[in-house]
Amino acid sequence: MAYQLLKGKRGIISGALNEDSIAWKIAERAHEEGATFTLTNAPLAMRMGEINHLAEKCGAKVIGADATSIEDLEKLYDESIEFLGGPIDFVLHSIGMSTNIRKGREYGDLNYEWFLKSLDVSALSFHKMLQVAQKKDAIAQGGSVVALSYIAAQRSFPDYTDMAQAKAMLESIARSYGYHYGKAKGVRINTVSQSPTKTTAGTGISGFNAFYEYANQMSPLGNATADDCADYVITLFSDLTRKVTMQNLFHDGGFSCVGISEEIVEKMEKQ
Ligand code: NAI
Repeated sequence: MAYQLLKGKRGIISGALNEDSIAWKIAERAHEEGATFTLTNAPLAMRMGEINHLAEKCGAKVIGADATSIEDLEKLYDESIEFLGGPIDFVLHSIGMSTNIRKGREYGDLNYEWFLKSLDVSALSFHKMLQVAQKKDAIAQGGSVVALSYIAAQRSFPDYTDMAQAKAMLESIARSYGYHYGKAKGVRINTVSQSPTKTTAGTGISGFNAFYEYANQMSPLGNATADDCADYVITLFSDLTRKVTMQNLFHDGGFSCVGISEEIVEKMEKQ
């Protein structure tokens, strides 16, 4: 159901790689809710061209930008403001990548160049997006910025390796920048800590199916899907959450508050 929650709002949505991407679902919902926006991704990720189908459906412009490049981000804001006809009301950071995870490196055997790359792509890029925006005064008064995180920032998940540190940094940037941008222009900055979700980035983590099922059986509401996440993020972009900022908001069916569930007890007792 659509409520026109984003009617008249202008946005930038990063990270829509394919139909499974959380950002893809958020773009579809933002369109339904009356927003206009640009779509962005790393030039390399756009070579399959899937993003063009989404852009067509949503009347969006696609702007290639490597989120670690200041120059690309400057171009992203300039072209977005020009295309949309005014300052930006909402920004989605939906970007994550770890070469250590891709190449199956264990926590005690990480490649540090790749570690730094994980931090740059998955966390520092969030600061860069915010700093470039602020220097250009690209975000409107009371705008809203959301990045997607995971509970490995707080708890240990063995196969999440260096992405755990990246997510901890991402959440910390939301708190620090939330203060500064809030004071300067009333801009809200939050992270949403999402359930395991079957996407390209998600399923790339070894043991994904096991912790997807585990989280599902631990959570009283079950795992939150990418569509559920889109609904939640839309509320954060809307005017209904004007005083929510600097938070890490768990969107996980209750997982983060459960010690053990009956389903897991039953399974353990059978062993
Ligand atoms: P996805 O693979 O569809 O999206 C990740 C995106 O990051 C891709 O579109 C990719 O092209 C983009 N990206 C990578 N390097 C980039 C760069 N240098 N510049 C610009 N973009 C770049 O996967 P998903 O799951 O939708 O990921 C989106 C966000 O959600 C990520 O931050 C991820 O960590 C987070 N998340 C995912 C969960 C899951 O289980 N799938 C759970 C919790 C959070």
